[in-house]
Amino acid sequence: MESSKNRAMPLPISHNQTHHLLLLILLIIFQVSTCFLSCLAQTPVGYGYKIQSITSHNSGKSLTADLQLIKKSSTYGPDIQYLTLTASYDTSNRLRIRITDAKNQRWEVPQDIVPRQTHAQPQYRFLPENHIVSPENQFPDKPISDLVLTFHNTTPFGFAVSRKSSGETLFDTSPDRSNPETFLVFKDQYLQISSSLPKGRSHLYGLGEHTRKSLKLTPNETLTLWNADIASARTDVNLYGSHPFYIDVRSPSGATHGVLLLNSNGMDIDYSGERITYKVIGGVIDLYFFAGPTPESVLDQYTQLIGRPTPMPYWSFGFHQCRYGYKNVSDVEGVVAGYAAAHIPLEVIWTDIDYMDAYKDFTLDPINFPVENMKRFVDRVHQNGQKYVLIIDPGIGVNKTYKTYLRGLEADVFIKRDGVPYLGQVWPGPVYFPDFLNPASESYWRTEIKLFRDVLPFDGLWLDMNEISNFITSPPKPSSNLDNPPYIINNAAIRRPININTLPATSLHYGNVTEYNAHNLYGLFETKVTNVALINVTGKRPFILARSTFVGSGKYTAHWTGDNAATWDDLAYTIPSILNFGIFGIPMVGADICGFSQNTTEELCRRWIQLGALYPFARDHSEKFTIRQELYLWNSVAASARKVLGLRYRLLPTFYTLMYQAHKKGTPIARPLFFSFPRDTNTYDINSQFLLGKEILVSPVLKPAAVSVNAYFPAGNWFDLFNYSHSVTVKSGQYVTLSAPADHINVHVREGNILALQREALTTQAARKTAFNLVVISSSSTNSTGEVFLDDGEEVGMGEEGGKWSLVRFSSVVVGDRVSVRSTVLNGEFSLTQKLIINKITLVGLKKAKTVKEYNLYTGAELLPKSGIRTSLQSHGEFSIVELSGLPL
Ligand code: NOJ
Repeated sequence: MESSKNRAMPLPISHNQTHHLLLLILLIIFQVSTCFLSCLAQTPVGYGYKIQSITSHNSGKSLTADLQLIKKSSTYGPDIQYLTLTASYDTSNRLRIRITDAKNQRWEVPQDIVPRQTHAQPQYRFLPENHIVSPENQFPDKPISDLVLTFHNTTPFGFAVSRKSSGETLFDTSPDRSNPETFLVFKDQYLQISSSLPKGRSHLYGLGEHTRKSLKLTPNETLTLWNADIASARTDVNLYGSHPFYIDVRSPSGATHGVLLLNSNGMDIDYSGERITYKVIGGVIDLYFFAGPTPESVLDQYTQLIGRPTPMPYWSFGFHQCRYGYKNVSDVEGVVAGYAAAHIPLEVIWTDIDYMDAYKDFTLDPINFPVENMKRFVDRVHQNGQKYVLIIDPGIGVNKTYKTYLRGLEADVFIKRDGVPYLGQVWPGPVYFPDFLNPASESYWRTEIKLFRDVLPFDGLWLDMNEISNFITSPPKPSSNLDNPPYIINNAAIRRPININTLPATSLHYGNVTEYNAHNLYGLFETKVTNVALINVTGKRPFILARSTFVGSGKYTAHWTGDNAATWDDLAYTIPSILNFGIFGIPMVGADICGFSQNTTEELCRRWIQLGALYPFARDHSEKFTIRQELYLWNSVAASARKVLGLRYRLLPTFYTLMYQAHKKGTPIARPLFFSFPRDTNTYDINSQFLLGKEILVSPVLKPAAVSVNAYFPAGNWFDLFNYSHSVTVKSGQYVTLSAPADHINVHVREGNILALQREALTTQAARKTAFNLVVISSSSTNSTGEVFLDDGEEVGMGEEGGKWSLVRFSSVVVGDRVSVRSTVLNGEFSLTQKLIINKITLVGLKKAKTVKEYNLYTGAELLPKSGIRTSLQSHGEFSIVELSGLPL
């Protein structure tokens, strides 16, 4: 019989640490010892581990528990007998629990990917229960954490993480004895850990990359993580990237925490709605809990660990045009001319693999893209204030006359199998793949980039096919557990072998790291090496767009969602996909506008540019054998593009400031509604709308023939960014039917915000030269605020010490009949030299008067500026105050 009451006991700890106990509250709950036998009796399979001893270290800031196997299980190979569990508070809001083999070192995500504290092997092992070890006080800071760790000293054992402030359990691995899938299992090639979740109150987001209808995870799905070149037009299968991270929003409070399983091996994650179960084919269990308690603070804490999103150049927020299948230089020149003639902004022109000579990286096709013509073309693009980006694939053609190949051989940088470079097949035919885990790849890759850039001064690199995609599948080694692991993950949703169309798991990287372990890291390492090389070669902030990603990729790259199709469903799925990447710490993300595969239609392309113009990264891209889909090809699409890209370009300072915030705090540029309204539980299931920043709400049309949208508005006054006098007011959140004629997308900003807009233009460079219009959206319940970050858009760091940048905060207060708007320059280094001017203030949302008033601060339309009004964004570090008196409020 089990006792009905658990007895809570503090972790053994010395007297002088008593006060730390109050801070950390590490508890062990002992169940009556009779449990051991009765539990086993109830357990059908009987595996799992029991705690042998617990040792506390560092003033109770970390502890080590020795775990011993109770009984072997028969499937997926032999169990590891002794495990070590280490729990530590890395910071006050981050708790790490790592479980690994007590005796043998195992594969773990390399330190240079996610730098973290190494857990020393415990000095004491197999101590008798309750042995007290005097901890040494090694850490100067003593965290006060809201996360509480509790051990259930049951047999098998389990642990729970809960929130001290609310008592809410966040993660609980106590096994359900009737279900063997809930036990802790630790074998060489099969790790299993499972947590219960409060049904109906736990709302999970993340765990990708997958194309999904719903942003929120839905019960009874298996999320497989194994990087694969599978078209993103397919839903619910593993795609190009792996991010074993989720955030859990608890209703009704909206309190949010995050959970990362830092593990690069292939895995299935079963989500039932009441449970999450990880089934991983290698590595260790390295769990991180981020306390939040808001979605924004979880992202701050998460990116503090995995690395802050890399800043993107200002120009990358302009509009991009690409296509697989541009025939020659004049074809591409025609596209640039087409945009100019149609007066549609075009910032960046891209070329796909078509530009290469026989698909060899760092070469130009001598017939269709000859060097001289390409040089002239890129020069002209640059003269227009535009940019040029090209594609690079990892496969290096095996060809004795090809210098990049020869230099790779010479540097011995290719991934090997059986002691020789592994031979794959991609566009150039037979290829070798550079091993970006090899430090020698850094100078190799930098040299190739530099040599090519000396020929053709491209502005950014597009890294495709890096899952790694391979057109062939090499036979597995019959005797190898790596090529044939005992547990088969649900790769491609058909449990297809992990080796299919990629490198065999028995291939070897530098340091004898197997492809089995490093597979999901390849794209990340490629972007890391490319990022460093580009900074080295250009001295400027790099722009990289990568298909394959892993935890921490945001430090180096932007991402697009891969090969979608020109369908209305795919249009809708872009919203969950993009929002997920914000959660993964990769805020610069977009989807192929108008659809990649299949022929688009005028209507679909029109609706797609309306939405796509508001993606953080906005690029039209299509497949070779589809119809052309440049935005100027249809009048109605061109008109929509001018209108919505016009808005995007007016919002460029906002996009860029959101980039700055993402870089500093990890907050996504495009966010789910619950990020700003976590207490509004209606927002949890919204898949068809999103926020730019805190409170710009985008409500697109996602269905053919629709001329209205049913859009959800959280409580407040919301103003149409195309026409401020159109507003929506909702007391509590509700759906509102909005008119959405063919040329219109609904974009609203909420009361309480101040936006610093500039004028639209055909390039970001031209837009940056225009005066600012400060749009102040007043609110009766709060002062309005906003901020703008400015720098030259391409210095390597963003907002770093010693850099030339400015941060200007705006606030406004309505007192009686006066609105006073204040700007505070937090750093004037950039604006000081730029003469940036606010020439217009638009007041929106005033109560008694008409909703909108605009003041031209030069001509004095509506109201003459009072003398002494500063209209410059730079104010020598002082306040700049605009007081507009006499308003009929
Ligand atoms: C696959 C990429 O996903 C796609 O965008 C690209 O056009 C093709 N490869 C050809 O390079």
